[in-house]
Amino acid sequence: MKRPLVVANWKMNPTSLHEARDISLSSDEKGVVICPPFVFMEAVKMNIKNAELGAQDCYLESSGSFTGEISPLMLGNVGCRYVIVGHSERRRVFNELPGIIKDKLKAVLDAGLSPILCVGENSKKDDAERVLEEQLGDIVEYLEDNVIIAYEPVFAIGTGEACSPGLAKKRREHIKEFIRSKRSNIVPSFLYGGSVGPENAACYIEEAGFDGLLVGGASLESDKFNIILQKLGW
Ligand code: 13P
Repeated sequence: MKRPLVVANWKMNPTSLHEARDISLSSDEKGVVICPPFVFMEAVKMNIKNAELGAQDCYLESSGSFTGEISPLMLGNVGCRYVIVGHSERRRVFNELPGIIKDKLKAVLDAGLSPILCVGENSKKDDAERVLEEQLGDIVEYLEDNVIIAYEPVFAIGTGEACSPGLAKKRREHIKEFIRSKRSNIVPSFLYGGSVGPENAACYIEEAGFDGLLVGGASLESDKFNIILQKLGW
């Protein structure tokens, strides 16, 4: 059976190079994608033999006067294969709107990389299906087969209150159907993210049928992360 894809989103952690080296060494497994902060990318690359590199974000141009930004072309040139686009923290903290997320997704695809597009409702009170459709609305026409969709409900991120596998499956089926209704030839793969830990990781794959996981906090704790991988059959 194909190994699930496990994407480690380190976010703005750890704070030192030696910790980044240690965590990357202990996460170095085939089927794992490590998304470190940009400053540690080269060091992580030197340490891994089996894992692949991903980025947490990027800008939408290839080069130019965009102080502080990193382009998908640069990411490809340092060995990145995946780029997270539209993470809820980018949407919420940095006011990224659907238009810019769409342009970033296009830029990642143009650079020959695989985008991991994050979508998810903000709270349990939201009309989740409407929110998901709005997040995908303009983007759906640009989707290609190598786009990975990460369903990450915001209420589950970093809270320890994961979405139940049953509800996550229902949401994924809605997203799949929405995409199928507009682009019947596109079959994306799906990750679940939001308080994934050793106790629930396998449920999203085995019960809910996701193709993989997007792991935040637990990916920084080697013991937890290794148990997650064991539970998935590593
Ligand atoms: P946690 O696993 O810490 O809830 O974070 C999820 C996430 O945002 C991954 O992108």
